[in-house]
Amino acid sequence: MSAQPLRLAVAGLGTVGIGVREGLAKHQAVLSQRAARPLKVVAVSARDRHRDRGVDLAAYDWVDNPVELAGRDDVDVVVELIGGADGPALALAKEALGRGKSFVTANKALIAHHGGELADLAETNDAALKFEAGVAGGIPVLKALREGMSANDLDSLHGILNGTCNYILTVMEREGTGFAEVLEAAQKAGYAEADPSFDVDGIDAAHKTAILAALAFGMRPDFDALSIKGIRQIAPIDIAHAADLGYRIKLLGLARRRNGAVEQRVHPCMVSKDTALAHVGGVTNAVVATGDLVGQTVYEGAGAGAGPTASAVIADVVDIAHGCRRPAFSVPADDLKALPTLDPMELDGNFYLRLRVVDRPGVIAEISSVLAGEDVSLASLIQRDTAETDGVYVVLTTHRTNEGGMTRASRKIGELDSVLEEPVMLRIERFDQ
Ligand SMILES: NC(=O)c1ccc[n+]([C@@H]2O[C@H](COP(=O)([O-])OP(=O)(O)OC[C@H]3O[C@@H](n4cnc5c(N)ncnc54)[C@H](OP(=O)(O)O)[C@@H]3O)[C@@H](O)[C@H]2O)c1
Repeated sequence: MSAQPLRLAVAGLGTVGIGVREGLAKHQAVLSQRAARPLKVVAVSARDRHRDRGVDLAAYDWVDNPVELAGRDDVDVVVELIGGADGPALALAKEALGRGKSFVTANKALIAHHGGELADLAETNDAALKFEAGVAGGIPVLKALREGMSANDLDSLHGILNGTCNYILTVMEREGTGFAEVLEAAQKAGYAEADPSFDVDGIDAAHKTAILAALAFGMRPDFDALSIKGIRQIAPIDIAHAADLGYRIKLLGLARRRNGAVEQRVHPCMVSKDTALAHVGGVTNAVVATGDLVGQTVYEGAGAGAGPTASAVIADVVDIAHGCRRPAFSVPADDLKALPTLDPMELDGNFYLRLRVVDRPGVIAEISSVLAGEDVSLASLIQRDTAETDGVYVVLTTHRTNEGGMTRASRKIGELDSVLEEPVMLRIERFDQ
């Protein structure tokens, strides 16, 4: 092959960085064909030059400060696999794009917080900005939305975007164990970080939801517009009740556009066992996107790990080798809209509320009265004994009602003397409304 190699610099040599290096080495020959030129790593950077990473890095120049990679004349594309919304990742992105060098990243935090600004920089300097690995790891869902569904009006998408949460909820359901116990086991098995808060509090899924919404709706990523709730409050009783009602509990990222405004949310919710997502278990990710021409499409696969994430990173590099400069968020950065946010409190939905209450006459009447005062109409109410030493569980579901009214009712019910712990309120998500 006579074509000039595409010269890469890789910043970050952890799980993904080493995965990319391995993927490039393993498929060197076929990648040269698919990219129509060799892909060649020329320089790398990480924090600790002396760490044994299990691979031979002698062929690459080592650079201590990753930002310097962007200034090298022998680098065409910078691949950022460090992580973090700011710090060296942001500095490197700005330096690379500012110099007209294409930039590939797996860093969803960076894109969710700075994607608009980086898209501006990329287009001004005729460089590519690509981040397929940042959403749903190995699933090529951004490419599917940006390219395969470009003929559609996309008004709605939702997905299981965090493998750690899906794994925890799957094991809680299978084994009937509590959140804390499953989290500890997940940490030991390597499915959860030592500090799990980004995952279990919904932040990671929110980063991905902001990116999906931006790409689908032609808007700048607007992380601050998201309403976010994680899975810490979910208990086995909720999972058991969900099963009795024909549902599973999943942490979903949801983005919908209605009348020119956008709703973006991440929270645990009940989904019918009849839906595709209810059957996505363990660390697997899945995204459902609905277009006006194509209808519903579903994408499922590995959302993390060295191989799947490297697969997406390398695919981005191959696109760049072909000169791909498609706008990062589907439309030119200048045309990205600032769409108003729909206030979740003004939306309607069906809800589940779980209460632990003292076991005495009159309590149900008190709860019903608060709900009626907020115009919430009950669909079902069940009382169950608890494993706790005192109280009983009351679990209720509602007909379609306003989220603001339901939230106020839940707060007022939580303040009643007869209610022993903070109520747990979940949306019962219907995707046809
Ligand atoms: N892991 C996954 O499955 C996955 C999936 C999708 C997306 N991602 C994203 O991919 C990115 C990388 O994730 P990862 O799991 O590979 O992380 P990781 O294993 O923690 O690796 C991070 C790498 O960045 C290097 N680094 C940290 N600070 C640095 C600095 N100031 N200067 C230079 N290098 C620095 C580290 O160097 P040392 O090794 O010397 O400490 C390490 O090599 C993140 O944005 C993550 O969100 C990861």
